[in-house]
Amino acid sequence: MNLKLICFSLFIAALASNQYFLNLHVLFFEYLNNFNPKTFSLPLISTLISHHHHDEKKTIKSICDYFPLDIPPPDTNTTSFICVDRNGCCNFTTVQAAVDAVGVLSPKRTIIWINNGIYFEKVIVPKTKPNITFQGQGFTSTAIVWNDTANSSHGTFYSGSVQVFAANFIAKNLSFMNVAPMPAPGDVGAQAVAIRVAGDQSAFWGCGFFGAQDTLHDDRGRHYFKDCYIQGSIDFIFGNGKSFYENCRITSIANPVPLGARVINGAVTAHGRASKDENSGFAFVNCSVGGTGRIWLGRAWRPFSTVVFSLTTMSDIIAPEGWNDLNDPTRDQSIFYGEYNCSGPGANMTLRAPYAQRLNDTQASTFLNVSFIDADQWLQPYNM
Ligand SMILES: *[C@@H]1O[C@H](CO)[C@@H](O)[C@H](O)[C@H]1NC(C)=O
Ligand SMILES: *[C@@H]1O[C@H](CO)[C@@H](O)[C@H](O)[C@H]1NC(C)=O
Ligand SMILES: *[C@@H]1O[C@H](CO)[C@@H](O)[C@H](O)[C@H]1NC(C)=O
Ligand SMILES: *[C@@H]1O[C@H](CO)[C@@H](O)[C@H](O)[C@H]1NC(C)=O
Ligand SMILES: *[C@@H]1O[C@H](CO)[C@@H](O)[C@H](O)[C@H]1NC(C)=O
Ligand SMILES: *[C@@H]1O[C@H](CO)[C@@H](O)[C@H](O)[C@H]1NC(C)=O
Ligand SMILES: *[C@@H]1O[C@H](CO)[C@@H](O)[C@H](O)[C@H]1NC(C)=O
Ligand SMILES: *[C@@H]1O[C@H](CO)[C@@H](O)[C@H](O)[C@H]1NC(C)=O
Ligand SMILES: *[C@@H]1O[C@H](CO)[C@@H](O)[C@H](O)[C@H]1NC(C)=O
Ligand SMILES: *[C@@H]1O[C@H](CO)[C@@H](O)[C@H](O)[C@H]1NC(C)=O
Ligand SMILES: *[C@@H]1O[C@H](CO)[C@@H](O)[C@H](O)[C@H]1NC(C)=O
Repeated sequence: MNLKLICFSLFIAALASNQYFLNLHVLFFEYLNNFNPKTFSLPLISTLISHHHHDEKKTIKSICDYFPLDIPPPDTNTTSFICVDRNGCCNFTTVQAAVDAVGVLSPKRTIIWINNGIYFEKVIVPKTKPNITFQGQGFTSTAIVWNDTANSSHGTFYSGSVQVFAANFIAKNLSFMNVAPMPAPGDVGAQAVAIRVAGDQSAFWGCGFFGAQDTLHDDRGRHYFKDCYIQGSIDFIFGNGKSFYENCRITSIANPVPLGARVINGAVTAHGRASKDENSGFAFVNCSVGGTGRIWLGRAWRPFSTVVFSLTTMSDIIAPEGWNDLNDPTRDQSIFYGEYNCSGPGANMTLRAPYAQRLNDTQASTFLNVSFIDADQWLQPYNM
């Protein structure tokens, strides 16, 4: 048993003890910090539950005694509330059951309150269910976790632990994880998405995204990410979305590369804009990029790939050339890779690829605030 598994067992043990609320946060945080898809295996949750159910009865009267009395709050004219708790203390025990209970094309917002814990399930929010909010208890204490890969799900696009096709989806304070094994160099079919965001007008506040290759499928539509933690190795923010990432911590878990070696073993983004008629792009503002490996900021998945990093700190894991055109020089004329007022050793642009642009104030302005995603038309403040 290695450190990560021990951590995980502690975490599961805490779920079943009367120390639940005292220890969970700390253990979950340790667990996430140690998370390494290379060594992680999905525990058989049914065994864990039945095994610990016994202890539960001995130590406390009912785990539901700890459940907050004011959850779910009463519905209002504009909002319905339902809740999810693994231990059966509220409306549903799985997130998918709660989503299934939401009415089709409801004009009201439905807030799905999700209690602390790891929800081992694959979740789909279909196109017919707009206006859903997932409200977790913190990205280090609430997570939806699955382990499909491109191979196991007939393609990367279907491997997401969570797949959102609906518009106006909001997630607050929870994590999306794919715990499939981290691909070894040269592996085929090991891409493993944590979430696919395919609906327009989606917002993520204080969320975590954990995986290795292809963690966050920012597929299409306008999306907002604030105060998020995003972890992966290869192309771990990819897709054709038009998205604004603010104050996010971006962490590479690519294998450490020996000093002086020229190998590149990861990339933060693979933006998929295919033509100049589209207006998609990824804008990062006030983020940090760090972790391990030797990686590019982006590779040109499609010819008009558009990515800008502004006011972002970058550690020395960024390769000096910064970006990659997928060995297709015809893309150099059409891709748009910009950097604006970034800092840290990885932000030195002296040896950047010739097509990488140091943006001036005017050029950068489009990418610096939420008007990039037409936020005035749809983005509600966090507390709404
Ligand atoms: C997911 O985890 C389960 C349980 O450990 C395992 O049986 C299954 O093979 C895994 N799937 C993939 C695609 O790794
Ligand atoms: C909610 O709807 C009821 C009945 O239609 C109405 O009387 C009430 O004023 C509404 N409340 C708000 C806050 O809009
Ligand atoms: C959820 O649980 C609350 C409290 O028990 C209850 O009032 C409400 O009707 C339930 N909602 C659904 C959709 O089951
Ligand atoms: C619900 O979704 C529809 C379609 O996406 C959208 O037009 C509407 O503004 C949303 N309503 C709320 C309350 O978010
Ligand atoms: C939830 O997310 C908000 C917005 O990012 C953040 O300010 C807040 O601290 C988070 N709360 C918890 C409990 O994680
Ligand atoms: C995916 O499937 C292909 C074809 O069956 C196989 O060669 C490859 O090893 C598989 N990849 C993984 C990561 O299991
Ligand atoms: C930049 O991000 C950091 C860390 O997330 C945050 O503490 C700080 O307030 C942000 N600055 C601005 C101007 O938003
Ligand atoms: C960006 O840097 C330039 C000079 O390098 C400076 O004039 C400008 O004020 C900075 N802008 C911001 C928003 O920090
Ligand atoms: C940037 O990189 C170049 C080339 O490696 C180097 O000569 C220069 O000193 C670096 N600048 C800073 C500020 O580190
Ligand atoms: C910014 O760059 C653009 C494109 O190169 C150029 O047309 C413009 O004059 C520059 N603006 C400033 C203020 O330097
Ligand atoms: C956002 O930036 C645009 C320039 O692209 C500017 O016109 C607008 O005033 C800014 N909006 C906010 C809210 O700062």
